[in-house]
Amino acid sequence: MKNIMVTGGAGFIGSNFVRYMLNRYPDYRILVYDKLTYAGNPDNLLDVADDPRYAFVKGDICDAEAVIAALREHNIDTIVNFAAETHVDRSIMDPDAFIRTDVYGTYVLLEAARQLGLERYHQISTDEVYGHIHGDHRSLETDPVAPRSPYAASKTSGDLLAVAYHVTYGLPVTITRGANNIGPYQYPEKVVPLFVTNAIDNLPLPVYGDGKQRRDYQYVLDHCEGVDAVLQRGALGEIYNIGTGGEMENLAMVEILLDELGKPRSLIQHVEDRPGHDRRYCLNVDKLRGLGWQPRHTHEEAIRKTVRWYVENEWWWRKIKSGEFKEYYRRLYGDRKVIAPA
Ligand code: NAD
Ligand code: DAU
Repeated sequence: MKNIMVTGGAGFIGSNFVRYMLNRYPDYRILVYDKLTYAGNPDNLLDVADDPRYAFVKGDICDAEAVIAALREHNIDTIVNFAAETHVDRSIMDPDAFIRTDVYGTYVLLEAARQLGLERYHQISTDEVYGHIHGDHRSLETDPVAPRSPYAASKTSGDLLAVAYHVTYGLPVTITRGANNIGPYQYPEKVVPLFVTNAIDNLPLPVYGDGKQRRDYQYVLDHCEGVDAVLQRGALGEIYNIGTGGEMENLAMVEILLDELGKPRSLIQHVEDRPGHDRRYCLNVDKLRGLGWQPRHTHEEAIRKTVRWYVENEWWWRKIKSGEFKEYYRRLYGDRKVIAPA
């Protein structure tokens, strides 16, 4: 593995992964292949743009000809597929692009990897494939999938296709399922960057429902290291969960975030819940620990570090929030009922 195509590399986790891999492996070359949707942003990769080991191709993973041309031209031996539509709320408003990219696009990449006989195809997946989980169970890689939103269903379909390509054609596939990532360059539709940037401007933080949903907020570089561990030492055909192994209530996350900013709790505004909102995700990450990986940040460290990045990098998010984002925000939150706290 030396020449890696990182699809979706101009997005949040993909761009952090590109930076991480270039720093870690001086002899690797990275090609970012990205459609530059609303979530793809060349600013995320500004600091690697002049690195001679880095190249960028603007393209759609659903375009088989363009994918194969890029793979051939850059002599790619490994695909790491981050490209996806990723926001649950958008998948509820308009699922079409999710089915196209997360399902059909994954198929196109798998088929290209098979035709060209690549060394490895790695699929970036999510804990949402397990659906919301009960009691104190932590999802295991062998648990049945039970997705509940159009986003989760489209990601699950991508996983199933990847497994099928391994079983049927012997394609050297690995899959990782990550928990909620937070950190630099996350598009401010996702809860942590949305709430930090709203709070900086003294705007309300729209907490869905009672805010007692449980998530595992992990620092993005811990996730990147986990993907790397699987690329280096993972077994072919296997799935690995990536998270801290813990969980926290959304409201607890919001309180840490406000404390780090020195902003009042009165900015919290409970609003009508997300339809079908998964109540709890929590991953068992022992299998990945078995590869010698461990998370480096607690929830609190990850949240505080993330908050500080947004405070120090207004140049990055103010541009985004002043653009088409305003229309999106009005559509999703404009008519949303404010509710009494539980
Ligand atoms: P993101 O929305 O920030 O970025 C997605 C990137 O994919 C963008 O650069 C976009 O331009 C690109 N893209 C979208 N459609 C494309 C297409 N058809 N062809 C080529 N490029 C396309 O996403 P993210 O949060 O960085 O997530 C990356 C991956 O990690 C996704 O597969 C997501 O499902 C998975 N994941 C995310 C999280 C999380 O907390 N953010 C957690 C677990 C798994
Ligand atoms: O769990 C992994 C998943 O995490 C990834 O696969 C997805 O790509 C990523 O978007 C994320 O999905 P979530 O739906 O968990 O993330 P989001 O940031 O949208 O929401 C996190 C929690 O915060 C969730 O319980 C919903 C809640 N929330 C979200 C928003 C945007 C609010 O209370 N208010 C909000 O305005």
